[in-house]
Amino acid sequence: MPRHIYINKKISPFNKEIEVSSDKSLSIRTVLLASQAVGISKISNLLESEDVLNALKIIKKLGINYKKKNNFYEIHGFGLNSFNPKNNTIINAGNSGTLGRLILSLLIKTEKKIKLIGDKSLSKRDFARVIKPLKLFGAKIESNKNYLPVIIRGTSFIRPINYAEQIGSAQIKTACCFGALNAPGTTFIRAKKSRNHTEILFKYLKIPIKVKSNKTFDLIEIKGLQQFNSFNYSIPGDISSSSFFIVLTVLSKNSKLIIRNININESRTGIVKILKMMNCKITLKNKKIYKGEKIADIFVKSSKILKPINCPANLNSSAIDELLLIFLVAGTKIKGVSSFKKLGELNKKESPRLNIAINFLRMIGIKVLRSKDNIKIYGNPKLDLRGKYHIKNFMKDHRIFMMSCIAALTLGGKWKIDDKDSINTSFPKFLNILKNLGAHINWKKEKIL
Ligand code: S3P
Repeated sequence: MPRHIYINKKISPFNKEIEVSSDKSLSIRTVLLASQAVGISKISNLLESEDVLNALKIIKKLGINYKKKNNFYEIHGFGLNSFNPKNNTIINAGNSGTLGRLILSLLIKTEKKIKLIGDKSLSKRDFARVIKPLKLFGAKIESNKNYLPVIIRGTSFIRPINYAEQIGSAQIKTACCFGALNAPGTTFIRAKKSRNHTEILFKYLKIPIKVKSNKTFDLIEIKGLQQFNSFNYSIPGDISSSSFFIVLTVLSKNSKLIIRNININESRTGIVKILKMMNCKITLKNKKIYKGEKIADIFVKSSKILKPINCPANLNSSAIDELLLIFLVAGTKIKGVSSFKKLGELNKKESPRLNIAINFLRMIGIKVLRSKDNIKIYGNPKLDLRGKYHIKNFMKDHRIFMMSCIAALTLGGKWKIDDKDSINTSFPKFLNILKNLGAHINWKKEKIL
C-alpha cells in the first residue's frame, strides 16, 4: 500500500455538487445504542470507516451479532447490560477516543474482566476523564496510570451519580449518559456545552432524559434501568468531513460547491459560524429535521480577502475538530491578526493538534504567536508558495493529513504528505472526492516488503 501522496499543482476552479461520508459521531453512537436496545435495529448509511468498523467488531466480541445487508446494518440487541463476553476479553478501539471512552461506559455492569486496548495514538490519550465518573458509578477500573490498557470489571452494585463535566467534552458527557442507562434511580450531569447527539438520540429512543440548558451548561437528568426498543436510523452526512471541502472552496479561486444532506446540529456548526464571522459565503438551505437532528445542504463560494476575528472561546467545542482548518483560513485568506483562545483540548486529540498546527503555519511562512493555550495568527492573503513541503510525523492523524491536502491544493508549492492511510479512520472516500473535483494527486505504488 502506498504510504504517501504528492500534490504539485493547485486545484482548478470547480462548480460541483458532492456528498461526503456519514457522520462519525452518530455512526458510533447508533451502533453502541443498538447493542443495548431490545430487538433488531437497522442502521443505513453507516460510516464504513475504521473507527466505526471497530465499534462493530467490539460489540461482536461482547456477544452482539450484526449483519451487513445491502445499504444497512442489522444489529441484534438483547437490551441493557446484555453483553455476554468471556472473562479476560480484549477489545480494541483502534484510533478512536470516542469509541474507547464510550464502550467503557457500557461495561460498568458487565461482571467480567475486559481489557481495552488501542493503537499508538490512542495509547497516548488520557482516559482519566472517563475513568473518574465510571468509578463513581461503581465500576472497578485499573489502568496504566490513566492510559491504555484499561481493565474494567463491572459490578451489579451500580449507583447513579451526580457529576460535573467541566471540559466541554461530549465524550465525557456521553460516557456519563451511557453509564446512567445501567444505574438505578436518576443520574444528574452538569456538563459544559458540547455536541448533543446523545441527548437527542435518548429522546428519540424514549429513554427518560430531561435537559435544561443555559448559555454555558446543560443540566441533564436520566432515569436508569429503562429498556428501550430497537430502531431504524439513516445516518446523515458529517459536517466535520464537509469542512475540508468548505475550506477548499473558500481558499480556491472562482469556485462553488454544494454539499448535500449534512447534519447541521448547532453543537457541531461552529466552523460555519466562525467562517461567516470572517465574511465567508456559506448558506445552509433545504433545512429539515430528522429524528431530532437538523439536516441541510451547504452552499459555499470562493472568498476574496476575509476579515480578522477574535474568536469567542465558547465556539471552540462546536468547532473542535475543525479548528485546524479555521487556522488555515485565518493564516492564508485574512489580512490582519486573528486570535483564538483556550485551545488546550486540541492537544488531547489523535495528535497534539495545536502544536502541529502552529508548526505547520510557521512552516508555510505565517507568523503565529502563542501564549499558553492562546494563539494569534498574522494572516497573509498574498501567500504564494513555491517551495517543497514534506508533512510527516503527525502520528497518522487523519485530520492533519486532510488539512495538509487542502493547503497543498490551494497555496501552491510541491508537497509530499505521508500516511495516506490515516484517512481510513474517518473518511476513506476523501481523496476520491478531491479527484472528482479535479485535484491532481499522485501516489506511487510501493512494494510491500
Ligand atoms: C466526539 C467528541 C469530540 C470530538 C471527537 C468526537 C464525539 O471529542 O473531538 O472527534 O463523538 O463525542 P471531545 O468530546 O472529547 O471534545
